[in-house]
Amino acid sequence: MTTHFNKLFVKKIEKSTADCAIITLDVPMDLRSTFKFTQGQYLTLKAEINGQEVRRSYSLCSSPLDDEWKVGIKKVEGGLFSTFANEVLKEGDILEVMPPEGKFYVDIDSEQQRNFVAFAAGSGITPMVSIIKTHLASEPKSTFKLFYINQKASTVILKEELEALKNRYMDRFEIYYFLTKQQRSVPFLNGRLSTEKLDTIFKSICDIEMIDHYFICGPEAMIHLVKDYLAEANVKTEQIHFELFGTDQKKQNKKKEALQSSFKGKVCDLTVIEGGKSMQIKMEQGSDNVLDVALNNSADLPFACKGGVCATCKAKVVEGSVDMLLSYGLEPDEIEDGYILTCQSIPTSDKLIVDFDI
Ligand code: FES
Repeated sequence: MTTHFNKLFVKKIEKSTADCAIITLDVPMDLRSTFKFTQGQYLTLKAEINGQEVRRSYSLCSSPLDDEWKVGIKKVEGGLFSTFANEVLKEGDILEVMPPEGKFYVDIDSEQQRNFVAFAAGSGITPMVSIIKTHLASEPKSTFKLFYINQKASTVILKEELEALKNRYMDRFEIYYFLTKQQRSVPFLNGRLSTEKLDTIFKSICDIEMIDHYFICGPEAMIHLVKDYLAEANVKTEQIHFELFGTDQKKQNKKKEALQSSFKGKVCDLTVIEGGKSMQIKMEQGSDNVLDVALNNSADLPFACKGGVCATCKAKVVEGSVDMLLSYGLEPDEIEDGYILTCQSIPTSDKLIVDFDI
């Protein structure tokens, strides 16, 4: 698969909070089928910023029912694309955009009465709004409970949209706002999620036996906390859906450094196969990830997030071994079959053959 970008006009930019821009993209009629999406999917955007090509993936916060393509981009400290989107980008500008991707959803079934629970932190709310809106509108008997964590009331992204949904589906949608840097009179709603808070949620607010699916979106620590809690409570893996927003960079850097020192001086003969062509590269084992090494050698390979989440850079190891820093974008059976995320894979063998065509 070669990455294909389309040029789209920025139709509208609205501010959801002081540092979060909601960007509506203008998808022309002839690209509507290419950009058809499912609730919870994301778009990969590309722009040239200070002479450098930058790609980032952002979840669609609109519903497929809206016939609108909106992404929410929260400015993060030192974030190249997010700062550009919040401070430089204007209505009428052009962005390069890849068609929607992602598996963070369950199929709509309008016949069913299902109970969904969502946990979101910060900008992790963006896919949730799309998911919640679509299920509530398309499944007239289904319910949603949202537990939404933010620092302060002023940083709550997409609050208006959520409140509008709550007013519209009063008997089927509940929201619990948690604030970590602002105290309120209900102690339960102050601070981050914790095992104690989850105990309270599942004792007093949700009956774990009655929940069909869980959606979790936010930082790694929150995802682990909720996932592990649910697994402990015997919730099946197929009922738990998560999307990672932001990874623990320090942990990854440590792992990288350890690999670099243990494989120092050892050579790897890397072969990358893509589009029927193969490329040979000599590199040091443990030194860098397969994707970056190949891109630096002018390979044309598919990638988007470079953060181990989207799986656009997925390929199969035909021979040799790698150490993967993160593997959230892969299913356990894919890992067993030898698939890797090349942006996260550091060669650890004398010979490595990686095939993007399988
Ligand atoms: S580019 Fe997204 S997982 Fe590698």
